[in-house]
Amino acid sequence: MTGAVPVLKLEAISVRFGGIAALSGVDFALNQGELLGLIGPNGAGKTTLLRTVIGVVRPTEGRVFLQGRDVTPLGVDRRARQGIALTHQIVKPFRGMSVLDNVVFAAGHAKTGSVLRALTSHSRAAETARARELLALVGIEAYAQSSPNALPLGALKRLEVARALATDPKILLLDEPLAGLNHIEAERLADTFQRLNAGGVTMVLIEHNLGQVARICPRVVVLDNGHKIGEGPTRDMLSDPAVIAAYVGKEVVDA
Ligand SMILES: Nc1ncnc2c1ncn2[C@@H]1O[C@H](COP(=O)(O)OP(=O)(O)OP(=O)(O)O)[C@@H](O)[C@H]1O
Ligand SMILES: [Mg+2]
Repeated sequence: MTGAVPVLKLEAISVRFGGIAALSGVDFALNQGELLGLIGPNGAGKTTLLRTVIGVVRPTEGRVFLQGRDVTPLGVDRRARQGIALTHQIVKPFRGMSVLDNVVFAAGHAKTGSVLRALTSHSRAAETARARELLALVGIEAYAQSSPNALPLGALKRLEVARALATDPKILLLDEPLAGLNHIEAERLADTFQRLNAGGVTMVLIEHNLGQVARICPRVVVLDNGHKIGEGPTRDMLSDPAVIAAYVGKEVVDA
């Protein structure tokens, strides 16, 4: 894709929290249609990087570009409206509404930007139909009328993905979506990501499950201690001595 403008580009990003340098001069680019892995040991700065992309964290230095446009000064809402969605390391559905309504609400809220209008929207029938499609796409349509409280963790993670997709994102950022799942569930959810990507969704996947990263992500960016220590084809990176050294001796803990 020589010459194409990346959908997302971070230029020399540094983030400091008090005395802690969470990110130091990180450059990062995501191309249209990519399923990019973002890996590194605990505390490497992965979540901070995605929070900088969505605008929750303001960089101490550096700039964020979306489709070639400098969005560094823009707040979270303006960036979200340009099509960035993040699923969180800890899933947070609305416990008081059904699984289906959680997705309807996410779609309506993204469109109107208003909680009240999202609940009373005239286009609710169309949004409900779309929400059902998304539940089917992530494989939890059987839970549509259930309360999120009744869902096993694997299904909750899929709900989180459906809610993010409801906003029709140009870029989907996934923060440890496989954490806490057993091997089979993790493989199935990874398959779903691969299918969504093949359907045109550009994604960044933060994961400690390197087996699944190796299986579904052609390229990875590796962070350690706030620095980018590698970037390239996943198999090359996972056998790179500097990358192996970063993981060795550090316990990797799923959130
Ligand atoms: N809001 C914050 N205030 C202070 N320090 C923070 C904050 N968020 C992150 N940090 C620190 O910044 C560093 C990077 O953290 P971050 O959560 O980005 O790492 P991570 O790569 O996502 O780790 P994990 O794999 O454990 O989720 C850590 O030292 C962390 O303690
Ligand atoms: Mg994290």
